[in-house]
Amino acid sequence: MKGIILAGGAGTRLYPLTKTVSKQLLPLYDKPMIYYPLSVLMLARIREVLIISTPRDIPLFKELFGSGEELGVVFSYAVQESPRGLADAFIVGEKFIAGESCAMVLGDNIFYGRGFSGILKASAEKVSQKGGALVFAYYVKDPGAYGVIEFDRNGKGISIEEKPSSPKSHYAVPGLYFYDGRASGIAKTIAPSARGEIEITALNNVYLEQGRLSVEALGRGMAWLDTGSCDGLLEASNFVAAIQKRQGMYVSCIEEIAFSNGWISKERLLKLAGSYKTDYGDYLRYIAEGG
Ligand code: G1P
Repeated sequence: MKGIILAGGAGTRLYPLTKTVSKQLLPLYDKPMIYYPLSVLMLARIREVLIISTPRDIPLFKELFGSGEELGVVFSYAVQESPRGLADAFIVGEKFIAGESCAMVLGDNIFYGRGFSGILKASAEKVSQKGGALVFAYYVKDPGAYGVIEFDRNGKGISIEEKPSSPKSHYAVPGLYFYDGRASGIAKTIAPSARGEIEITALNNVYLEQGRLSVEALGRGMAWLDTGSCDGLLEASNFVAAIQKRQGMYVSCIEEIAFSNGWISKERLLKLAGSYKTDYGDYLRYIAEGG
């Protein structure tokens, strides 16, 4: 399975913070924001990753991750000329995907919770073996800013609405999606919505209507955090800081995941550790020494 991180958008809701730099490069406590969604793909054992961003920001992502060799990951990069919608990523990324199954995570979505790596591995396996698509449902107090899923009495998803003014449930669809090889073809058939975007919700509804969309609930205790506002950013940073300081284990440490996946050697991890004269570097050393 391949993976896409969509890190586009003008970030106008965070102005002036994002006037000159991509939202997905802003600090989320001690790491650039994109480390968190990248860790999600890596935990799903996805090693071929396409980063899609704006013409302005793509050079910065290239500088941050390069070829990916240091992480045992293969990065590709593509430009989305204008924010045409989330499902447009499957058109921009069609050559990269090359008809395979593909996961997409939004570059500003933060996930954290016990058992989540198992859920990710199982989801990737399910879609690559059986086809169809898979999304998650997450209970939020105010669902109106998201794709919202309506369930029937048996708990089966029956429709998804994008940013509804009267949401039919409290279940939002987070920015993490798994698709079989048909996603690019379907995305091309989707007409832009009223806000001029090729909506991911429209793509998901095609799979749903065909009876090929699995919806997995992310239960209580799982964190799916919002970074769409300055308060959301601060709260997510405080959340990560609280867990890391209390447990001494890092959230979304991509080098640690690469090492525990067996993608990089102890020597390479120690080399990376040596290049950071920070607590982050000390942590990498601790992990390399078997911590
Ligand atoms: C997008 C999607 C929405 C989804 C959300 C998750 O919203 O359109 O369906 O629930 O991401 O973060 P947007 O970022 O465009 O507001």
